[in-house]
Amino acid sequence: MSATEQHENAGTPLDLHDGSRYAASLRLSVAPMMDWTDRHCRVFHRLLAPQARLYTEMVHANAVVLGDRERLLGFDPVEHPVALQLGGSEPALLAQAARIGAQWGYDEVNLNCGCPSDRVQAGRFGACLMREPALVGDSVAAMIAAVVGLDRAVPVTVKCRLGVDDDHDFDRFMAFIDTVAAAGCAMFVVHARNAWLKGLSPKENREVPPLRYDWAYRLKRERPHLQVVVNGGIASMAEALAHLGHVDGAMLGRVAYHDPYTLHRADAALRGVQPRPRAELLRALRPYVEAQLAQGVALKHITRHVLGLFHGQPGGRAFRQVLSEGAHLPGADWSVLERALAATAGQRRAA
Ligand SMILES: Cc1cc2nc3c(=O)[nH]c(=O)nc-3n(C[C@H](O)[C@H](O)[C@H](O)COP(=O)(O)O)c2cc1C
Repeated sequence: MSATEQHENAGTPLDLHDGSRYAASLRLSVAPMMDWTDRHCRVFHRLLAPQARLYTEMVHANAVVLGDRERLLGFDPVEHPVALQLGGSEPALLAQAARIGAQWGYDEVNLNCGCPSDRVQAGRFGACLMREPALVGDSVAAMIAAVVGLDRAVPVTVKCRLGVDDDHDFDRFMAFIDTVAAAGCAMFVVHARNAWLKGLSPKENREVPPLRYDWAYRLKRERPHLQVVVNGGIASMAEALAHLGHVDGAMLGRVAYHDPYTLHRADAALRGVQPRPRAELLRALRPYVEAQLAQGVALKHITRHVLGLFHGQPGGRAFRQVLSEGAHLPGADWSVLERALAATAGQRRAA
């Protein structure tokens, strides 16, 4: 059985590129995360969250244009609706990359205006683009022009911060949004804190600058025609759902990765269905795992993304341990995951 068939058995028929599925996925999404949200991770998240919008890791536009496209852009059809996140700041290059991404089958192309790493700053993209609204506008306009005329609509969206360093002026944030919206961007993912470009690591930049969700809420109130998705520090299903009273969507990053069952519970709540047991969700991944193993992919590349499935549960540590120890051994196959599940069951009986 293919991953897609398995998915259909889970009760959610898959119409690839179905516009209504894309629209419904606005409410809950999983953040782009470098080294984490690769294609294996996204297939796992899709099984957990049939309705969520998934984002790739950031790929630089130059790599998309010149690099190994199958490696950089390849994805499983089960991942729809899935957005490609691009990095870059040259409108012509971004336009080329956006067109390639859209032709490759992505449902959305998103421009990164939020990453604060030194490497990204040296390349003059990511969060430092918050200070260059005109350039972002030109980039978005060029990207939109490059994807019109394809056989389906592929929205171009932006993921941004509130500002950089000591920008604490809401009007300045709104001026950025208005300039980019005037260029044709109708959806913004707002990581609701500033990026500090000097003195903080990317990790600290996800923790230290204070969160100001009220800016995202106010953006939605003052520009109700724009779609606003809030991101940053959302730690539970209840928090995710509470944001939906103020904005169009909630994007989960680290919690979706470290505690993926929270992602499942949020998606199930939005679909009005009961959450499925963790073991059942994991076993739904088996056809995908076996197909990948048959193609020569090592088990550890997939299992590293499922380690948190029993986060906070009796047996959660045993689950991680069995996977960590077993998945990298030569010839490791599905039986390692069954052993990990058995370890959690043993611990739960003992608890
Ligand atoms: C390991 C890691 C890698 C990330 N890579 C990206 C990226 O490629 N593009 C991006 O826009 N944000 C990236 N982010 C930031 C997240 O998308 C998100 O904005 C941030 O983690 C805040 O959300 P959270 O508090 O729910 O994790 C990354 C975050 C993490 C933890």
